[in-house]
Amino acid sequence: MRIGILTSGGDAPGMNAAIRAVVRTAIFNKIEVYGIHRGYAGLLEEDIVPLNVYSVADILQRGGTILRTSRSEFFATDAGVKKGAEVLEAYGIEHLVVIGGDGSFKGALALQKEGVSVIGIPGTIDNDIGCSDYTIGFDTAVTTALDAISKIRDTTYSHNRINVIQVMGRKCGDIALYSGLSGGAEALILPEVKTDLDGICQRLLVGKDRGKLHSIVMLAEGCGNYRDYCVEIEERTQVTTKGTNLGYIQRGGSPSNIDRNLACFMGYNAVQAIIKKETGSVMVQRFGGYQGIPLEEAIQIPKVFRQDIYDIAMVLSI
Ligand code: F6P
Repeated sequence: MRIGILTSGGDAPGMNAAIRAVVRTAIFNKIEVYGIHRGYAGLLEEDIVPLNVYSVADILQRGGTILRTSRSEFFATDAGVKKGAEVLEAYGIEHLVVIGGDGSFKGALALQKEGVSVIGIPGTIDNDIGCSDYTIGFDTAVTTALDAISKIRDTTYSHNRINVIQVMGRKCGDIALYSGLSGGAEALILPEVKTDLDGICQRLLVGKDRGKLHSIVMLAEGCGNYRDYCVEIEERTQVTTKGTNLGYIQRGGSPSNIDRNLACFMGYNAVQAIIKKETGSVMVQRFGGYQGIPLEEAIQIPKVFRQDIYDIAMVLSI
């Protein structure tokens, strides 16, 4: 048997750990593995190489993806998907493991409709895949954001300022939400919660009147740019307001223990699903356990906002 593996969309810490888990589990079970470079773009360009046990040595702790990644516009077309399926057939690749986010899974579903056997593994820092409690890379990104919050808090405190910290996540506020809770942010601006800037500023001023010397506002990128919020907040509070966009540091770095474990379980289970002929699914962590969910169903499961976490954060940061 021969399987292919690719990473697609934004890279995420732990993708390498997942690649390693898939390759090693496959080889252990005498299955050949081909690595497809640069996601679907590399598939279309036949940038495909055989992988062995040594190809994935010493990558468990590395951020990024050794297979590299891309976002292919041509693959999103019918002609692109058809060509992708033809390339896989020409290489004798019977099953394809796709590590990525929702866009990557839509591509996988399109391939499945062309008759390709696919398995998805959720890998994105955004944690915006509704079918999985967590995605590979999210915990590391939150840990990176948390480290930045602590550092920014030092200087914000010293100058009696407000600091708006912008984090990634597309339309999902989870990086801001989770790092905001653990970093003690005084306010959270998230796409899932209607922004009441007057209310937020009022809250910051109440804290100031009670003796708070500084405040941190976590801003999810889906709500706009930190520069605009700095102007608005400073105008309303009359407190000097600075801002920081954490940017791509959130996507890099050595994966955390949680992300490595997720990657090991999901990668191992992906190959087990192939062996058991249970493909056409996404490997997820759901309600604390691991399971496969049919791809078509998985991509329809809406992401549920953790209102409980938001409420706790609002209580703890008064
Ligand atoms: O999906 C991961 C992510 O980092 C998002 O949080 C962000 O909006 C986007 O990718 C940035 O993409 P790019 O690498 O194309 O700038």
